[in-house]
Amino acid sequence: MAAPHPSATPPHDVVISESLPKPAISREPSGSGNPVPASHTRTQSNASVPHATKKTMVDHLRKYESLFTLTPQRMRIIVDSFVEVLEIGLKEFGQTVPMIPTYVFGWPTRMENGDFLALDLGGTNLRVCLVHLQGDGRFEITQTKYRLTEEQKQEDGMKLFDFCAECVANFVELHTGEGRGKIKEDEELALGFTFSYPVNQARIDHGELIRWTKGFGAPNTEGKDVAAMFRASMEKYPVLKNVKLTALINDTTGTLIASHYVNPRTKIAVILGTGCNAAYMETVENITKIAPLGIPGEQQMAINCEWGAFDSFQHYHLPRTPYDILVDEQSNKPGEQAFEKLISGRYLGEIFRLVLCELIDAGDLFLGQNTYKLEIPYSFDTAFLSLMESDPTDELLTVIGIFTHFHQIETTLAERQFFRALARLIGRRAARLSACGIAAIVSKCGYLEEGCSVGADGSLYNKYPGFADRIHEGLVDVFGDKGKRIVTHHAEDGSGVGSAIIAAMTKKRKADGLFVHV
Ligand code: BGC
Repeated sequence: MAAPHPSATPPHDVVISESLPKPAISREPSGSGNPVPASHTRTQSNASVPHATKKTMVDHLRKYESLFTLTPQRMRIIVDSFVEVLEIGLKEFGQTVPMIPTYVFGWPTRMENGDFLALDLGGTNLRVCLVHLQGDGRFEITQTKYRLTEEQKQEDGMKLFDFCAECVANFVELHTGEGRGKIKEDEELALGFTFSYPVNQARIDHGELIRWTKGFGAPNTEGKDVAAMFRASMEKYPVLKNVKLTALINDTTGTLIASHYVNPRTKIAVILGTGCNAAYMETVENITKIAPLGIPGEQQMAINCEWGAFDSFQHYHLPRTPYDILVDEQSNKPGEQAFEKLISGRYLGEIFRLVLCELIDAGDLFLGQNTYKLEIPYSFDTAFLSLMESDPTDELLTVIGIFTHFHQIETTLAERQFFRALARLIGRRAARLSACGIAAIVSKCGYLEEGCSVGADGSLYNKYPGFADRIHEGLVDVFGDKGKRIVTHHAEDGSGVGSAIIAAMTKKRKADGLFVHV
């Protein structure tokens, strides 16, 4: 296997959209699920449609406005059903929104200290960190990022974990030595593995992958214990003999704990990036499905909601447009992650592209121009939506740039205004749906009166213009003025620092003999 190369991306650099090109597929549902090369041929009859019969961009916009706009009333209906789904997930195993018990017991004391390794496998990159917790909410972090290729996401799971272990081994080798910021030879080093996909956990250092999300498809992994697979890979590297996988965590759980470590008002964490999800702290007596474990009812435990799965399969609750349905049908996981597919950075650009394709097919856009580049699935990055929305010029020069540079298409001002307005509709809907998810947790936990902070992370939240404001507007639409008491803030690095804090909490818990069976 080729040695892993640290990516050129500087640490902490967040890419606005991590949506990645997929194999070309037709816009027609293929039925078999097999990718079919995209094809779109502009016919002579298309080209001869007289311009006068075409609807104006303003007319089109009206249609998309009604498709993509979520009224406050509709939002409240979504929130009510969301609350029910969250509650069912706490009662029964195997629910669509699995409400995963994480075995992270309560909040950090903020006195956690020591050196910990963190491995972060989340979507676009693989990251290895050495976190030095100094107590009192302070820490130092040294990290290396490795870019994951599309092929690696699809090749056998064992190979993927071997690559992870190889990256950790390289990192450990590089950072072992004497002195500050170094890994001490012959000392056990606890590792927190942030694995940001839904897993069923029987204990904190175990997790059976329920399903891949975010375009991953590595075979021979779903249904298996990914912690055991990673341990087996680590055993292949003698340099890792002192590294102990102590906790398998989700990025949201890490974000919840890390955000609380620096801001104790934090009660909920959300990730709004390539994927989307949330975590919060629950009282064990409410997690009735784990009653047989005998954990005292008053104990607190973080729950990884996996809310991206809300409304999957049956599609009862969310208003989906024809473009959402196409995105779903043509994804590698049709029916799954229904909420995520309306919200996350992996899909927003694709939704936009499919609307444009519809107008191209109707002969209402780009007549006489070669549109093949725009016909390629996932060729319109979510970052473009964000750039279009923040274009400060009257002529919309950024929009001109995107279409000419990336798609070799000329645009009129009216079209560019339409594109920007369409981006706004799609981005705004994503933020308002995110607000519905947050509102559901707030309602379920009764946080509205007192208010709370929500630690938020991910490329959409961090980079999409106005995303946080739109979430806040959405919360007011759901709760009225009291919605202002729920405030999102940029979260602390959950997959690195959070993972290390959880490893520290777990190490201490086990040493204290507390719930050692989980
Ligand atoms: C995964 C979650 C993860 C979220 C954000 C989703 O696709 O299922 O486990 O927390 O993405 O990374």
